[in-house]
Amino acid sequence: MGEVGETAWHELLIEPLGVRLRVSAEQPLLASARAAGIELPSSCRNGTCRTCLCRLVRGQVSYRIEWPGVSFEEKRDGFILPCVAYPMSDLVMDAPGVRRANASAP
Ligand code: FES
Repeated sequence: MGEVGETAWHELLIEPLGVRLRVSAEQPLLASARAAGIELPSSCRNGTCRTCLCRLVRGQVSYRIEWPGVSFEEKRDGFILPCVAYPMSDLVMDAPGVRRANASAP
């Protein structure tokens, strides 16, 4: 779903919530989700604590930090850190801890 222009946009589907978002290639996934009212588990938001670790089912992301806290094997198996991952294509992400920000607490 990329567009010609200054900023590339992609579609992100977050499971198991089944929510679809339009995300900018210039913003980490966590920030884009938050801006759309979707909360993913997070803490440090700089790629070190791994609280946000989840699996990318489809698509590609890139990192702008030297070595995000995800191992080679985890990367190979599709795990990403959405707090520092930038979308490079349309994505499907499996994030069991995802919830709507305005959802009332149990
Ligand atoms: S929130 Fe800490 S690694 Fe993503």
